[in-house]
Amino acid sequence: MATAFITSCAEPEPGSDAEDVEAVSSGLTAQDRLNLCAQDPRVIAGLVSAQVCAGADIFFRETFEGNGRSCGTCHPVANNFTLDVPFIDALAASNPLDPLFVADLDPALAELETPDLRALGLIRENVDGFEDLPNKFVLRGVPHTLSMSLTIAPDLADGSTNPPVHRTGWSGDGAPGNGSLREFLTGAVTQHYPTDLGRQPGVAFRLPTAQELDLTEAFQLSLGRTNELNLQQVNLSDPEANDGRLAFMDPARGRCNVCHFNGGANHQSTGHNRNFDTGTRKAPATGSIGAFDGGFGGQNLATPNIDVVDAGFLNGFGDGKFNTPPVIEAVDNPPFFHTNAFGPTIEGAVAFYIGPQFSASPAAAELTAQFGTPISFTGDDINKMGRFLRVLSAAFNLDIAKQRLQAAQTLVNQFHNTRADIQLGLMDLARVEIDDALEVLAVGAGATPLHSVAQTRLQEAKSEIAAGLAATTWSQRQSRISTAISRVQNARDQFGSNITFQLGQGNLMY
Ligand code: HEC
Ligand code: HEC
Repeated sequence: MATAFITSCAEPEPGSDAEDVEAVSSGLTAQDRLNLCAQDPRVIAGLVSAQVCAGADIFFRETFEGNGRSCGTCHPVANNFTLDVPFIDALAASNPLDPLFVADLDPALAELETPDLRALGLIRENVDGFEDLPNKFVLRGVPHTLSMSLTIAPDLADGSTNPPVHRTGWSGDGAPGNGSLREFLTGAVTQHYPTDLGRQPGVAFRLPTAQELDLTEAFQLSLGRTNELNLQQVNLSDPEANDGRLAFMDPARGRCNVCHFNGGANHQSTGHNRNFDTGTRKAPATGSIGAFDGGFGGQNLATPNIDVVDAGFLNGFGDGKFNTPPVIEAVDNPPFFHTNAFGPTIEGAVAFYIGPQFSASPAAAELTAQFGTPISFTGDDINKMGRFLRVLSAAFNLDIAKQRLQAAQTLVNQFHNTRADIQLGLMDLARVEIDDALEVLAVGAGATPLHSVAQTRLQEAKSEIAAGLAATTWSQRQSRISTAISRVQNARDQFGSNITFQLGQGNLMY
């Protein structure tokens, strides 16, 4: 296993990151990575397959002879596989030479990004083709890459087409070729990795091999959770959160469950993933615009085909529809939607659905036709649904924290101090998830505190992890990990019943 560690704001390595990463990784073939992974204690212990391990190594460290970026540059594990402005600010301060900022560093790549990267966390994307670089681009937030095994099966009832065979990216058509998650890697390398904007494969970057495509897909499919909840069965011990659960499902209140069935990304009637025009396109967050973002389709059109923002002329490409993402994973990743324009908290995203853009949207009209009345819910319901989603998100965070701590426990039991660095990495990433849980459990001033006792347990778990990281013997570390697991479990037990997540093994990689 290559030794380069995650780039995280907590562990700045100023200076030579890009060169380090390249020196470690560029020469490795997929087979080299599989061979190295056969020696990885997580693989030896049976926690992770060699395929997932090797795919993770490509995702986090392979630069494809490009500008130094990896997938982990924009999908960092320690930030829920996404970028936001606080993370970007901290990175710019700790490591201004990070390849995320390559557009500021290399004149040949000045037009790779726009100032909106630093200001709003928005990435320049040529989703409709590379033929008119100055004008034909959109700006999008970075989606997390969690739980994709559940969220990418297309539902053609939305009027879209197949291909794309998978729904990837904010408009569901993010991958080139047949549009599969496997092919997404090729598209991302072409979009984000070039050393010049001619983007000629073999010159500006190298293309992934078939084996690299397979391995990276296997890793991505093993991230996050691998099952859906059953919200009918879930019961939350916080009364307002539990009423928020009912509001989320009730067509006379939130109506959310129609599109985000059980808090995920699939449609209630089919169990597959649909695109909708929810009106978010009319609220772009940004100033430096090529085309407005028309969503799904529109590739290779010579001229705009849609008036995205009601400007009175055609100014974008697509059918106006965007892809439904899962909500459980979204809560601790503000701001929300493809524009990064709604937040700053989950309540801001919930309130969107009784705001002017959604109310005037085709998606809302469809729901009105189905249920007989326009969508409407109260401010009280906004807070209750926010609380409900906060508890689900915290439970998800804590389960991943526990998964990582239990893996560290297995490794310390079996290997003591051999490759202790991996145990420490897992413990630190467990701490990151506990911090996320604490953040989402901290409801705004004026609200009834949410699970205060659990929050205290989580602070105790963090102290145990800190002590375990500092421990000088493996047996001290072993006992700290074990206590940390009990504290997390104790906190988690207070949330309610039937909040049962199955987790992918990719969560153990970094
Ligand atoms: C410069 C930042 C950046 C880099 C580097 C990057 N991505 Fe992304 N990623 C994005 C953005 C922005 C989107 C949204 C694209 C869209 O809407 O089509 C995205 C979307 C995705 C999605 C869709 C997620 C979903 O839930 O539908 C996947 C999968 C993905 N990226 C994988 C990768 C892989 C694999 C790599 C490495 C080859 C990579 N990304 C590198 C910025 C980046
Ligand atoms: C008609 C289908 C539909 C309904 C009903 C719906 N959503 Fe959504 N939701 C979407 C789509 C589509 C997106 C992505 C929009 C975009 O990116 O522009 C989305 C995005 C979101 C996001 C942001 C996810 C992220 O990763 O940024 C949240 C949070 C969310 N919805 C919550 C809710 C809640 C809460 C309700 C009920 C009040 C609800 N949704 C009702 C279709 C729907």
